[in-house]
Amino acid sequence: MIVLNNIQKIFNKGEANQVTALNNVSLTVQKGEYLVIVGSNGSGKTTLLNVISGAEFCTTGKVVIDETDATRLPEYKRSQWIARVFQNPLSGTAPDLSIIDNFRLAALRTGKRKLVIGVNDAFKKLVRDKIATLGMGLENKVEQNMGTLSGGQRQALTLLMSVMDNPQILLLDEPTAALDPRSAKLILETADALIKQYQLTAILITHNLKEAQQYGSRIIQMSEGSITKDFSTEKKANLQLQDLVEWFG
Ligand SMILES: Nc1ncnc2c1ncn2[C@@H]1O[C@H](COP(=O)(O)OP(=O)(O)OP(=O)(O)O)[C@@H](O)[C@H]1O
Ligand SMILES: [Mg+2]
Repeated sequence: MIVLNNIQKIFNKGEANQVTALNNVSLTVQKGEYLVIVGSNGSGKTTLLNVISGAEFCTTGKVVIDETDATRLPEYKRSQWIARVFQNPLSGTAPDLSIIDNFRLAALRTGKRKLVIGVNDAFKKLVRDKIATLGMGLENKVEQNMGTLSGGQRQALTLLMSVMDNPQILLLDEPTAALDPRSAKLILETADALIKQYQLTAILITHNLKEAQQYGSRIIQMSEGSITKDFSTEKKANLQLQDLVEWFG
C-alpha cells in the first residue's frame, strides 16, 4: 500500500523559476490496486512517481510505503518494494550485455543473489521460461545483446526484469509511448498479467485514453499539480472512451 499525505513538491524554491509540481496531493493506493493516471504535460504525474520511488524527495508531506515512513528513504532502499518501467525502452537495460546478463544484473540489483550465483543453468532456465510467456520467441535468443532488439522487445524484457525479485509496487511511466500499437498492447497485457499474478500495487501513467479506459481498476486525473478527478473501480468500469475524451476536451 502507498499512502501520500499532503505532498508538496516545489522545484527551485525562492528563485524566479520556482515551480510547484505537486500541490498538497493526498492519495492512498491499496495493495493490489491498479491506478491509472492521466493529465496534460507538466501536470505532475512523473513527479508523483518520483516522490513515491524516492528519485525525488517531497518538499513537505509524508510518504508511507507498506506501513513504513519512506519520506526520506533514498531510492535504492525503496527498490526492495518498487520496480519501475520508463517511457524510453533504452533506459533500464544495458545494450552491450546479453539478455541473460541483463536479467542477471536485474536480479543482483536488489540482492536475490541465491537465484543467480552458482546456479547458472537453473537461472537460465528460469529466465527462458519467463521470457517464453511473452510469446515473442526471445527465449531462444538469451545470448543475444540487448541492444540488437527492437524497442518493443526491450520494453517487454524490461518489464519482466523489473518484477524478477518480487517487488510489491510497479510504476509504469508511459511505458508504451515509444511503441507501435501491437507492441504497446503486448506490454500492457503482460503488465496486467504480472500485476494480477503477483498482486502488485501498480500505477500506470498514460496519454493514451484508450489504454486508460482499458486497463487498471481506478483512474485519476492530474492538473497543475493536483488530483482533479478520482474514479474508483465501479465508476471506472462504467467510463466510456468518450467520457475520457471529454475530460480533455
Ligand atoms: N527536476 C526538475 N526541475 C525543475 N522543474 C521540474 C523538474 N521536474 C519537473 N519539473 C517541473 O514540474 C512540473 C511537473 O512535471 P512532471 O514531469 O511531473 O509532469 P508530467 O505530468 O509527468 O508531464 P508529461 O506528461 O509531459 O510527462 C513541470 O512544470 C516541470 O517542468
Ligand atoms: Mg511525465
